Amino acid sequence: MKAAAKVCANIALIKYWGKVSTALNIPAVGSISITLGNLWSETEVEFDESLPSDTLILDGQSRLDQLGRVTECLDLLRVRAGVEASARVVSHNNFPTGAGLASSASGLAALTIAAARALALELSPRSLSIIARQGSGSAARSIFGGFVEMHAGSTPDGSDSFAESLLAADTWPLEVVIAVTERGEKSVSSRAGMEQSALSSPYYSDWVATSTVDLDRGRRAVLGRDFEQLTNVAEHSCLKMHAVAMAAQPPLVYWNATTVACMHVIWDLRHSGVPVFFTIDAGPQLKAVCAPGFSQEVEKALRDVPGVLETLITGLGPGIIG
Ligand code: PMV
Repeated sequence: MKAAAKVCANIALIKYWGKVSTALNIPAVGSISITLGNLWSETEVEFDESLPSDTLILDGQSRLDQLGRVTECLDLLRVRAGVEASARVVSHNNFPTGAGLASSASGLAALTIAAARALALELSPRSLSIIARQGSGSAARSIFGGFVEMHAGSTPDGSDSFAESLLAADTWPLEVVIAVTERGEKSVSSRAGMEQSALSSPYYSDWVATSTVDLDRGRRAVLGRDFEQLTNVAEHSCLKMHAVAMAAQPPLVYWNATTVACMHVIWDLRHSGVPVFFTIDAGPQLKAVCAPGFSQEVEKALRDVPGVLETLITGLGPGIIG
């Protein structure tokens, strides 16, 4: 009853922010993401009758604060397998954890796959996506590679709230440069930030109401491999999400001064003809998405921004890599 899995992280181009059910982790809006080939989580799960409760070691440290959602995810699989044993979970990310770099996406997806393997459960990618969603909304998308669409769904039990593949990674090999501007874990998790936004941001209802238009535009841009359209809708979705969060009470500002400096560098590059746009999640790191062949030039520009600690370059990935 022991198995491992290695799964790539993903970042949303059309963002998810807010839930209709916190208990089942059902998103209020759909999302479109790209899976990143060089950023991954590797997770090992061992079910053991002699363990009194689940344990989690993440990047070498015991993490009680993250154990709740791990156990929630494991419970869904234990019920299906008819197993009651607790599990020892050991996970490792090859990139900074909890800093807005999508570690929960790859981590919870790897946990779901490793646990399903350890329990010898034969589950479809859709079922894995639904289970991973209950650990972390964005994890539902990491089951798939390339361009992925997550459906918010409409059933109260969340059975139609899953991700699926939109376009294979090699069909449109976009490149991503990540500017790391802070290494610590973020102070407000996306889970808490979403709740705060839904409860107190005056823009939250408009965010939800306009999401289908953004999704339609994003899907059309991906399927038509239209970089300019994708640029327009992805930056709009990102800035709209952050505007919703900033207008929450108390306010949520995930950016630092370097994040904003990087945004201007991306706009300057674009005005000089480089096909690149940015996206930013619930943290201060900026992710620059560029057309094939442009990552070196973009990386050079971001590396020189004062306050950028490190840059990472990645292509698109296949989702489950081990
Ligand atoms: O997967 P969660 O519940 O941590 O939420 C992720 C939210 C964003 O990264 C900000 C947006 C997204 O769609 O991934």
